[in-house]
Amino acid sequence: MAENQNNIQWFPGHMAKTRRQIGEMLPLIDLVAEIIDARIPLSSRNPELSDWVKSKPRIVLLNKCDMADEQQTIAWVQALNDDITLAIPIDCKSGRGFDKFLPAVKRILAPRLEQLKAKGMGGRTLRIMAVGIPNVGKSSFINRLSGNSRAKVENRPGVTRGNQWFMIDKGIELLDTPGVLWPKFEDKTVGEHLAFCGSIKDTILDIETLGCDLASCLKAKYPELLCARYKLDCDIADLQGYELLEQIAIKRGMKISGGDPDYERAASTLLEEFRNCKIGRMTLEKVGDEL
Ligand code: G4P
Repeated sequence: MAENQNNIQWFPGHMAKTRRQIGEMLPLIDLVAEIIDARIPLSSRNPELSDWVKSKPRIVLLNKCDMADEQQTIAWVQALNDDITLAIPIDCKSGRGFDKFLPAVKRILAPRLEQLKAKGMGGRTLRIMAVGIPNVGKSSFINRLSGNSRAKVENRPGVTRGNQWFMIDKGIELLDTPGVLWPKFEDKTVGEHLAFCGSIKDTILDIETLGCDLASCLKAKYPELLCARYKLDCDIADLQGYELLEQIAIKRGMKISGGDPDYERAASTLLEEFRNCKIGRMTLEKVGDEL
């Protein structure tokens, strides 16, 4: 994770730009749809977003819930719901949860519509801003929601050129995030969790180290699933990440010339199988966890 050290240098500048861009659009917005990764609900949120969007009503979409631990997703939905936030688990692959989104938007914005009607602006379009760090599935969400009739709304007065607006229902438009909502990946654990889930490019990471860290993480959180997938029949309680990779390499017959275990292959196999949910449905961050 040496690259994380460098990220600290340029991170604030990019964040400031996105904050300004979101801030500029906010007066036009009635509701914020924040897409997060249900497997890492803490690391896939940008903690500064709340300050930026303040008291705007918000729907938090726990995406990729097909890969997350179902019990944990239920716990997260309860934990995230509050006066201004409604949490909905979704899955952009199958479309699960999408039927709940528009009815929730209409319910939440009903008082706003009444307000507008009282001011003689009853016909005014309701506007939603979709935000999410890269790779959480924001494009998949927008594509599925706007469907085949994906209608891009053209530039018009008061709406900044270059921003992407989509008509998602009669009288409801969705704006793609202006700018990139960077994750807080200068934090070591956040960076690791994002990397495990494939949200940071592997080319900048040391695969063997990452595989070791993932093995340790899975040993702590889902030992039964880890043992079942790799047929680990020894007691793994005292094994460190490297030793777990060794066991995986032995069980899968991964060897380098000379017969020693191929740690690098074991690491990339573990990462690939975790990312594709082959080990099992898992949530790495539980309600109440401190990162
Ligand atoms: P982004 O705009 O936020 O950057 O994310 P994007 O929609 O491009 O999705 C990132 C990856 O996550 C894609 O996989 C996408 O298919 C996958 N994905 C999005 N939502 C879900 C979900 O609910 N469940 C699962 N299992 N996967 C989801 P990819 O490998 O990068 O591309 P592809 O293989 O789909 O072409």
